[in-house]
Amino acid sequence: MPLLIKNGEIITADSRYFADIFCEHETITKIDRSIPAPEGTEIIDATGKYIFPGFIDPHVHIYLPFMGTYSKDTYETGSQAAVVGGTTTLIEMCCPARQDDALGAFELWMSKAVGKSACDFTFHMGVTKFDDESEDQIRDIVQRGISSFKIFLAYKGAFGINDTELYRTLKLAKELGVIVTAHCENETLVAERCRELLAAGKTNPAHHHESRPPLVEAEGVHHLMTFAELTGAATYIVHLSCKEALSAALAARQRGVRVAIETLIQYLVLDKSYAERSNFEGAKYVMSPPLRDASNQPILWNGLRDGLVQTVATDHAPFDFQTQKPMGKDDFTKIPNGIPSLEERINLLYTHGVKTGRIDLHTLVNVASTQVAKLFGLFPKKGAIQLGGDADLVVFDPTYRGTISARTQHMNVDYSAFEGWKLEGRPSVVTVRGQVAARDGKFTGQIGRGQFLKRTPNHF
Ligand code: URP
Ligand code: ZN
Ligand code: ZN
Repeated sequence: MPLLIKNGEIITADSRYFADIFCEHETITKIDRSIPAPEGTEIIDATGKYIFPGFIDPHVHIYLPFMGTYSKDTYETGSQAAVVGGTTTLIEMCCPARQDDALGAFELWMSKAVGKSACDFTFHMGVTKFDDESEDQIRDIVQRGISSFKIFLAYKGAFGINDTELYRTLKLAKELGVIVTAHCENETLVAERCRELLAAGKTNPAHHHESRPPLVEAEGVHHLMTFAELTGAATYIVHLSCKEALSAALAARQRGVRVAIETLIQYLVLDKSYAERSNFEGAKYVMSPPLRDASNQPILWNGLRDGLVQTVATDHAPFDFQTQKPMGKDDFTKIPNGIPSLEERINLLYTHGVKTGRIDLHTLVNVASTQVAKLFGLFPKKGAIQLGGDADLVVFDPTYRGTISARTQHMNVDYSAFEGWKLEGRPSVVTVRGQVAARDGKFTGQIGRGQFLKRTPNHF
């Protein structure tokens, strides 16, 4: 059925105007004032509302095998939460264990998403080892429509790669025109500091930060930047959390290194005092890199405002507080790392970013949609509101007032890191390729409608 969104204010990364949007066959076919509605058209009145391009989360984990368990959301639950919160495209990390082969993992990850997602999706291909066989498989995976890799400089013995593998991965990426996303923390420092802290009896969640302070992250960034400079590969630092790491990345950028920077909504609105909460409550806030001192927050917000930081993701990795986080009850190094936030990214960015004047509406669209689409080869089908583009649209109600609670969230996890927080605005209608998929906090879409987005390299 055709769809007409009337009387809204269209907000893109670089424009703002009032117009109607007409969508047919999954795409935007008209943008104009006072578009008439042919018979059988579904009409949405967007008076008083903003219309954003569908948001894209460039860093999520769905049912990730990690630290002896699995992150809780499947595509069925995770994509519903995404859509309700205004995110219409997911970029998930395909993360094979070191002993697994890349192609098998890619096919496994695909099988968990195809026919099960309510929104479109693609993957960053995790390169968790690099040898002749995996190189052949990775080349094949790029042919199948993947144009970004994911590497971990952390997680020794699990996903982490050594320097030889890092060098070869970046050289391959450069050859293929693939962008390399990277988790930057020095794994040797993390392992040594964890050992020292545990030996000193420092076992609770508050000590997670001491095991990987800002310098450990900055060293990881500097390390990646050195390899990127030598190979000429395009890089993207995931979940950058602090001033020290930002300085290392910006210094490299100034030298000509090709690097884009992602921060997370968690680092913008939460700080390390949350992970220091008593009675193991801090475990809800354990992730890596850790939540930082609050003094880092204005630096990250300003980085977004000034275009130094390109994107805001969630690194969504939900683990239940009752049954999974307690795996690290007596040893913080065993707490599954992750803070659920897929559903709340846009609402929090709007409430704590736009409403407070830290960023403007265009920056919100840019960092949570347009830049992501450009960096990862999805633009202008995604990340824009223009003729011929996918009709992924968010009709956003800036007058909504509400409260976040685990009781009402769609994410499949037993707590909210933002329990009781007030929201000032949320999506009123969300469309996925021209079909309404969420209304006022309720999922109304179709599981399985989401499509795999084939991408081609060399978009950076
Ligand atoms: O704590 C985190 N970030 N959990 C998810 C895995 C990762 O490092 O991205
Ligand atoms: Zn990571
Ligand atoms: Zn992650």
